Amino acid sequence: MQHTWRLDDGKQTLVLTTAGERLPQVVYWGATLPDDEDLHTLHAANAIDVTGGMLDENPDLSLCPEAVRSFPGQPGLIVRDTDGTPLLPKFCFEKAEQNGKLDLTYVDAENGLTLTFTFTADTETHMVTARTTLDATRPVHLHWLAAPVLPAPQQSEEMIDVSGRWCGEFQLGRTAWSAGIRYRENRTGRTGHEHFPGLIIPCTGATNTRGEAYAFHYGWSGGHRMVAEELQDGRRQVQFGHAARMETQAATQFRTAPLYICYSDTGLNGCAVAFQRHLRDRIVTWPQPATPRPVHYNCWEAVYFDHKLPVLKDIADRAAALGAERFVLDDGWFGQRDDDTRSLSDWEVDPRKYPDGLKPLIDHVHKVGMTFGLWFEPEMINPDSDIHRAHPDWALGGEDQTLGRQQKALNMALPEVRDFLYDRMSKILRDNAIEYIKWDHNRVLPMPDAAQTRGSYALIDRLRADFPHVEIETCASGGGRIDFGILERTQRVWLSDSNDALERLRIQHDAALFLPLAVTGSHVGPRRCHTSGRILDISFRAWVAAQRHMGFEMDPRELDAYETAVLTEVTSWWKHNRHWMMTADILRLDSADPAVIAEQQLARDKDRFVVFAGKAATSDQIAPRPLRLTALDPAATYRISLINRETAPGLSRGKPALKTQGMDVSGAYLMRHGVTLPWSFPERMWVLEGHRL
Ligand code: DGJ
Repeated sequence: MQHTWRLDDGKQTLVLTTAGERLPQVVYWGATLPDDEDLHTLHAANAIDVTGGMLDENPDLSLCPEAVRSFPGQPGLIVRDTDGTPLLPKFCFEKAEQNGKLDLTYVDAENGLTLTFTFTADTETHMVTARTTLDATRPVHLHWLAAPVLPAPQQSEEMIDVSGRWCGEFQLGRTAWSAGIRYRENRTGRTGHEHFPGLIIPCTGATNTRGEAYAFHYGWSGGHRMVAEELQDGRRQVQFGHAARMETQAATQFRTAPLYICYSDTGLNGCAVAFQRHLRDRIVTWPQPATPRPVHYNCWEAVYFDHKLPVLKDIADRAAALGAERFVLDDGWFGQRDDDTRSLSDWEVDPRKYPDGLKPLIDHVHKVGMTFGLWFEPEMINPDSDIHRAHPDWALGGEDQTLGRQQKALNMALPEVRDFLYDRMSKILRDNAIEYIKWDHNRVLPMPDAAQTRGSYALIDRLRADFPHVEIETCASGGGRIDFGILERTQRVWLSDSNDALERLRIQHDAALFLPLAVTGSHVGPRRCHTSGRILDISFRAWVAAQRHMGFEMDPRELDAYETAVLTEVTSWWKHNRHWMMTADILRLDSADPAVIAEQQLARDKDRFVVFAGKAATSDQIAPRPLRLTALDPAATYRISLINRETAPGLSRGKPALKTQGMDVSGAYLMRHGVTLPWSFPERMWVLEGHRL
């Protein structure tokens, strides 16, 4: 008996087959196959030969490779009885259901284990979501459970995964495939800057805009493990799951987070578009979907902990005049929070700073036309806080643990901790007109524990259920908690604490492989950046922020007339365009000049686009190289114009056409030759608009 199943989403096909009752394997994953493809033939065709030095039959690279079937690589499941005895699971077919989604159930009767694999294919976003569940008849200890295991393509020389650091998120690293394992394990207990849970496997020759690529994202905020392994026989497998031994308690059920996978034949951009659309249109719940994303003002880098009502009101006036629509009061409003050494968990308004509560500030913010948002860091506690003095046992980890930013994490697995946080936070939300929370998480955990992440999720879910109009921004020292798990519960990411536009240009370019504009916060920082010391012109700072969900985070009192004028103008451009940019695809361009980081935001109807070409460094050659656009209709004519051409520096002395006028050219020309931009200084951005005629 042979079982076969296929999943199609209009862009990719996944074929699973199995001989007899064993666990199935993915025998095909890639571009859509013809409807009448014979899956039994594919099963036979997938088998690799046997020669010297091999077993007489090649062990299956199944959805959960089993050690007991002599699989030579990493198994998909490692589990022990509560007395420590390792179990050697071996599963047999139980049932399959395919009805919109595909559910496959396999049972190991001897060990009392059941494995269920679930796949759903989204025909609009072209994303397949896959998950594995383990059920046991008695409590067992889980060491490792992989989400459904996928084969990696053979026509690929390298893989791209994502690391980073504070103020340097989303760094792409390329690792060549070779025998053995590329292993990423995040044991920090939060998604982290260090190990974003994503992987892209470009096929040989793939670029941003061309070629084939496969991509994975594990939607979990507690830290993950990734195994990308090449076996001796040449086959490759990719496993994603929670970091090992994160499930600290024996239990009768374990579930992986959803694994999101996609295939592209339009380069890395095909994967990026699938992630961007799936995140925005399927994962995020928007409290007010019809309302445009508001321009933010965040006061952190203006006042830090020094909250004075008249100053904040003055800042609010200025921010509103620049075009801000939401005012976010950051850290410093509660307890005795005069610096970062104290008061976390004392979530009551500081009467020294706000003798009449937050209302006077909120009323003022409303008066000048903005809504109000508030910062919390719910999972954290300072030893110097009333709550720690009252409940030292609520903190996670030992007495002698190393603190992080002078703080400990609360034990979110404890219902009383979650209830306490719910009570304090809901009181503030009930007593004040607050429509936004910036939810921070500024230290790693003393040890990873899935119960902590589940506790955080439960608290957010409860607050969201009771305050459905409140949006949440996920922040963890910048981009330390960004993943589709937290984004099921939040609407914005604070991508980085770096408001240095030069650094942001790169960070948000690489983050766009996974994140759409609608969720990606980007703020215009101070003239001299507080985290890099770099001084950047306001036009560059403003345009970099305008590439994503725009906001300001400087002290507006520092702005001179020129800066005010530029910022007001760019903000107004952003507001004018956000209605279509929110749902546009961000397409990373293949810039022939490594000094230029460029992207094209293409409207869903493909009738208009904007290109942001950021000059991150001085070019080696004198003249700008043409920049090829992508995904246009080659036969259509586009009217293009450089909307900020008057900012060309005096040293640009020639007359390239775009410097003096717009032009009408074909999509074919724009994609095959590219646009020739004027010369510019480094740390400048050209902004080119295009409309299909
Ligand atoms: C870290 C965040 O990333 C910052 O934006 C700011 O909110 C501070 N925490 C406040 O303590």
